[in-house]
Amino acid sequence: TGPQTYSIACIPADGIGPEVISAGVKVLQTLSDASGAFGLDFKDYDWDSERYKRTGKYIPDGGLESLKKHDAILFGAVGAPDVPDHISLWGLRLAICQPLQQYANVRPTKILRGTESPLRKTTTGDLDWVIIRENSEGEYAGQGGRSHRGCPWETATEVSIFTRHAVERLIRFAFETAQKRTKKHITVVTKSNAQRNGMVMWDEIAAEVAQDFPNVQMDKMLVDAMTCRMVLQPQSLDTIVATNLHADILSDLAAALAGSIGIAPTSNLDPTRQHPSMFEPIHGSAFDITGKGVANPIGTFWTAAEMLRWLGEEDAADRLLECVENVCGRGILTRDLGGEAGTKEVTEAVCAEVRQSF
Ligand code: NAI
Ligand code: MG
Repeated sequence: TGPQTYSIACIPADGIGPEVISAGVKVLQTLSDASGAFGLDFKDYDWDSERYKRTGKYIPDGGLESLKKHDAILFGAVGAPDVPDHISLWGLRLAICQPLQQYANVRPTKILRGTESPLRKTTTGDLDWVIIRENSEGEYAGQGGRSHRGCPWETATEVSIFTRHAVERLIRFAFETAQKRTKKHITVVTKSNAQRNGMVMWDEIAAEVAQDFPNVQMDKMLVDAMTCRMVLQPQSLDTIVATNLHADILSDLAAALAGSIGIAPTSNLDPTRQHPSMFEPIHGSAFDITGKGVANPIGTFWTAAEMLRWLGEEDAADRLLECVENVCGRGILTRDLGGEAGTKEVTEAVCAEVRQSF
């Protein structure tokens, strides 16, 4: 038998999604061709806001079943100026993550060589975090309702759901992640002073799970104080675990502190491996720069590396990240990182670097 071939579903979707995903596919294909160690078989899905406007659905009937046949999913970004954001988010991204039980959202952050943090005294190596976000329930569980529309007494509820099952599996995954890293340090973020039910249960479950990981050092933060610590003492953090909403916000802050939202990757993992996991850059569809050829593809390259790592191709993942950092180190940067290169130049430079690395 020849090298293993992975089947990858591509969902570029909206805005700069197709621009960065085609760049990502190019780099992945180059890596696979140059290494000869594994094959990649890409299948495109045109699930985007145009389809929604045409048919009323992002995902056609039976779509999820075909997605499940792939080894992994590479996702761009969803969101269009003329579709409300809650429709696009729930219609596509959450409609994949939730049924496929991709319950762990993993967001690594670091300052890439050749790039700068907006934090004056922080340089490469000072900020090296992985944020683990609960991805199946919590504040985004979809519970709640709205009544008496338009009346002065109109009422809306947005109910957070925290189950022992989901909180425990996520916190356990976060401790396992922390254990594999050099610092073996985890910060559990909640808001258990004000939110006295769900968040207190989080704290209790974290303390229970911690018992099983005696070599992982744990500390706790309230989410508001956590924003200060991320800015003022970035070196003091390593693995961070938080709820769906809290980690959503903290990870955007993390991406900005590391230099740009354009470089940050996300993995939506089903740690049980029953279903394929989904990999995407953290950023959205960025209407303001769509079609201009200036979108930073590095978030997608890093995402592609995380996808290879999850598929078991550790060496290829490390090599890809190394090549990306080499290109950044040579100053080939897009505008969001203070450079002048376009998407295409950065992509070609990374492809050349990959070929040369063998
Ligand atoms: P955004 O991430 O699309 O853009 C925020 C800012 O960052 C913009 O100024 C944009 O130009 C810049 N930016 C983003 N990615 C970049 C890249 N790769 N290179 C250079 N600059 C980049 O967030 P925004 O504006 O809040 O949302 C736009 C749309 O995207 C909305 O419809 C939103 O719902 C959707 N969205 C979708 C996400 C997803 O599919 N996972 C995540 C976040 C937002
Ligand atoms: Mg977000």
